[in-house]
Amino acid sequence: MFSRITRRQFSTTPSTAYKTVVLGAAGGIGQPLSLLMKLNHKVTQLSLYDLRNAPGVAADLSHIPTNSVVKGFTPDNEGLAGALKDADVVLIPAGVPRKPGMTRDDLFKTNASIVRDLAKAIADNAPKAAVLVISNPVNSTVPIVAEVFKSKGVYNPKKLFGVTTLDVLRASRFTSEVLGTNPVQEKVTVVGGHSGITIVPLLSQTKKKDFDPEVRDALTHRIQFGGDEVVQAKQGAGSATLSMAQAGARFANSVLSGLAGETDVVEPTYVDSPLFKSEGIDFFSSKVTLGTEGVKEVHGLGEISSYEQDLINKAKETLIKNIQKGVTFVKENP
Ligand code: NAI
Repeated sequence: MFSRITRRQFSTTPSTAYKTVVLGAAGGIGQPLSLLMKLNHKVTQLSLYDLRNAPGVAADLSHIPTNSVVKGFTPDNEGLAGALKDADVVLIPAGVPRKPGMTRDDLFKTNASIVRDLAKAIADNAPKAAVLVISNPVNSTVPIVAEVFKSKGVYNPKKLFGVTTLDVLRASRFTSEVLGTNPVQEKVTVVGGHSGITIVPLLSQTKKKDFDPEVRDALTHRIQFGGDEVVQAKQGAGSATLSMAQAGARFANSVLSGLAGETDVVEPTYVDSPLFKSEGIDFFSSKVTLGTEGVKEVHGLGEISSYEQDLINKAKETLIKNIQKGVTFVKENP
């Protein structure tokens, strides 16, 4: 039998058959995200890992007639090593979500150690995989993964992504509601980080460009704090799961498209970025071209308004602290 790896060795073009792993697959995001990955034709193997119920979710999805084999793993059933073996793309939605009144930073205490431990397992079992971090606070959990990988000598900055796509989806939707346009055609670049004021939509780069200042302020605020609408509406039952699953699946598909050699695959994402490194900000979200090796090019911000420049300055003050918090956590709790 030709395995996926064997086929790849004999092929001169990049493969379109990929193993994708979801860690935290039985959760609110994990289940619909796993469903959407089951529907992705680039995925031929789908491994689902969770502390509980991943084999059940896998059995359920396995009846969908798409070209992938689904398998579920728990700690006492082949565990993380079994799930991660030969992975090309690993999605991490494991961890606790927000309740009303909480910020994403309030999740740090619980999620930092979950993400650290999962990163260790990825470093040991799938060091070449692209890693897509959904668990919050993304501004800090991405640096945590980077520090773990560095400590194990496997850090590849081109293969580590913080998933900020939900901010991009919200920006499209909310802007289209204000303008009365079709959200599918309303593209908004969102830069910075993934929490409150670190989320900076570049509305001056949309087709409309010049918004009335009051409208612009309200729209910017809604994009920055849109997650709170869902947290409040769910009344303690969690945060965005379905829209997040769609966002995660869209970003994963873009990463897979890049790996497969498709051209002009561009998404905003939170990566190890040269843009503000000289100011001590090692991670920043901006438009990134995705390619066969992961990050192909990190794009600059382009022309921005003075209003947006102010927002970015404020975002940077918070980001530098969030990044440092992640780095310090791994140093103090290796
Ligand atoms: P959830 O509580 O419904 O699901 C989390 C799942 O993770 C559970 O099934 C749990 O068993 C599992 N889990 C916990 N520890 C684990 C471990 N060590 N290994 C494997 N699995 C583990 O939470 P939900 O709503 O799915 O949210 C997950 C995370 O995603 C949260 O941190 C949330 O803040 C974040 N999130 C991120 C967004 C983004 O835009 N990046 C948007 C919305 C949520």
